[in-house]
Amino acid sequence: MALDKPYANIPGTRIFDAERSRQGYQLNMFCMSLMKAENRERFLADQRSYLDEWPLSEDQKQAVMALDLNRCMDLGGNIYFLAKVGATHGLSFQQMAGSMTGLTEQEYRDMMIAGGRSPVGVRLRDVKDAPPPAPPSPTHARITASVYSSHVPAVGAAIDHGKTEEPYWKPMFAGYDFSKQWMKENTPDVIFLVYNDHATAFDLSLIPTFTIGTAAEFKPADEGYGPRPVPVVKGDPVFASHIAQSVIQEDFDLTICNDMQVDHGLTVPMSLMFGEPDEWPCKVIPFAVNVVQYPVPSGRRCFQLGQAIRRAVESYDEPLNVQIWGTGGMSHQLQGPRAGLVNREWDNAWLDQLIADPAATAQVPHIEYVDEAGSEGIELVMWLIGRGAMSDVAGGPPPTVAHRFYHVPASNTGVGHLILENQ
Ligand SMILES: [Fe+2]
Repeated sequence: MALDKPYANIPGTRIFDAERSRQGYQLNMFCMSLMKAENRERFLADQRSYLDEWPLSEDQKQAVMALDLNRCMDLGGNIYFLAKVGATHGLSFQQMAGSMTGLTEQEYRDMMIAGGRSPVGVRLRDVKDAPPPAPPSPTHARITASVYSSHVPAVGAAIDHGKTEEPYWKPMFAGYDFSKQWMKENTPDVIFLVYNDHATAFDLSLIPTFTIGTAAEFKPADEGYGPRPVPVVKGDPVFASHIAQSVIQEDFDLTICNDMQVDHGLTVPMSLMFGEPDEWPCKVIPFAVNVVQYPVPSGRRCFQLGQAIRRAVESYDEPLNVQIWGTGGMSHQLQGPRAGLVNREWDNAWLDQLIADPAATAQVPHIEYVDEAGSEGIELVMWLIGRGAMSDVAGGPPPTVAHRFYHVPASNTGVGHLILENQ
């Protein structure tokens, strides 16, 4: 059910995977704190007191104080992080490595000078009692539907300030009446929610193209007006890590994020589909796509990624009902003399094609989005991740269009919305 671990039986080897990372998150963050000289001083002066400032298990604290690196790794530590503890004690990396082998420092040094440890006897081929691989599970997760929606921040503000019945907003929100009822009848276990971060969780110091959120929860961010009064998003770290492993092994280079706040790109579609509950009724795996600084991923790449995500979901052996949502768009330009651009004709033709022939939509080049749908219309490439994950793309029957809606304007934007169900 959890991660596929072909490395598990290599003798004397611990691979730092998502499971260990979850187990050792605080332990490794404690290690990182030792990169500051004043923290190293405080730690050396009173290790116990310093460790008590961190939410570590007693086992983890004892292992650190004993400088037992093998035990630290069993408890989720990673050697590069643990090396900060060794460095704080003035140890070289060779001393640290040697300390894990049962040899004396001199014996380890001599072994390395003599050419290093022989691989003979410590490879997979030498393991006699490796357990057989687990049989395939009879059940697995399934993508039952995909939902697409603009994520206009002003829509969130209208909800939060009780303006949804005002004449300006009423026709737009009416387009989601069906959707709220549909959501009640089709609440999934998990939503894989594709959105983009709008200079909130990521600034220009780090610009990942695709980011998967593997945390247990994600707080709504303060985007300058205070955080939206919406529930904290509950994640699914184990399922998200499985998807990350599967998709990365299919050569999509995801960034894994264990600590992230979510902005209107994620929370506005949640509000549109679920209303204003005290807590969201299902788990959410946030998936952020860079569409802020070029180069941004092509529609073709997003469509391929959606297909890989579908395979990842279907290789997870829990019978979860999963929806994939693509958000952003439709046509809008938020900047410069062309601000306010809305191309109703192009938007609707794009929707027609996305439903009927998504492989053709995936070929639409960036320049067309920018030229026809405005500079921020490029967000629409994110819908192709959701569309790529639908069954028909893998040879199944075409999806049912449960709902389709288009409205102009919401603030600066053409609003599009679509619900597709897998048959
Ligand atoms: Fe956006």
